[in-house]
Amino acid sequence: MGKVNIIEHPLAQALLTKLRDKNTDQIEFRKGLVELGRIIGYEVVRSMEVNETEVETPLGVKAKGVIIPDLEHVVIVQVLRAAMPMAEGLVKIFERARMGVISARRLEDTYKKGSLSFDVESTYVRVPKIFSDDVLIIADPMLATGSTIVTVLKSISSRGKPKRKIVATVIATEFGIERVLKEDNTSEIYTLAIDPEVNEDGYIVPGLGDAGDRAFGGS
Ligand code: URA
Repeated sequence: MGKVNIIEHPLAQALLTKLRDKNTDQIEFRKGLVELGRIIGYEVVRSMEVNETEVETPLGVKAKGVIIPDLEHVVIVQVLRAAMPMAEGLVKIFERARMGVISARRLEDTYKKGSLSFDVESTYVRVPKIFSDDVLIIADPMLATGSTIVTVLKSISSRGKPKRKIVATVIATEFGIERVLKEDNTSEIYTLAIDPEVNEDGYIVPGLGDAGDRAFGGS
């Protein structure tokens, strides 16, 4: 059964506050997303199995330690374009990760307010083959209606079935989480906050605005 992990670390929450602030400029916004990618990465590592090992130190003495075998089996899929800074942070923790990208554009005029859903156009999918011992991390900062993540999950399912499927996000909504778990109830969601509302344009409220525009400018 899927699980929702809320990252309460004060540093993560202070960064989120900065991202929510409308006065935070593009560069600080992007830097904040990179840093949050790194922090989410640490939190994901916390959930990985560790094996005991022993090494010999330069003093010729044995010291007990641990290794984390899953670090060799991480696939990060970033949803263009807002997830790019997050993926930059994640890969600092999972430096041996195989990387995939997928474009996903919400078609604004297909928004169905009643069912809180969009049609999503995905024209570019480059995702490595996924193996049964992989930990797949799908990065997308905003889980609003779930339309994008559901499209991504469907689109990459042909690449293989991983051991774990993690959706790494900065702000989610209850509705988006339920929608993702309904599509795949083994998904695990990592987020910093669950906001109460999606407005009539499909934005999370209070949210942080359009993550792609705030990180890269324009629209
Ligand atoms: N995508 C965003 O960038 N912001 C939202 O609030 C919802 C989806």
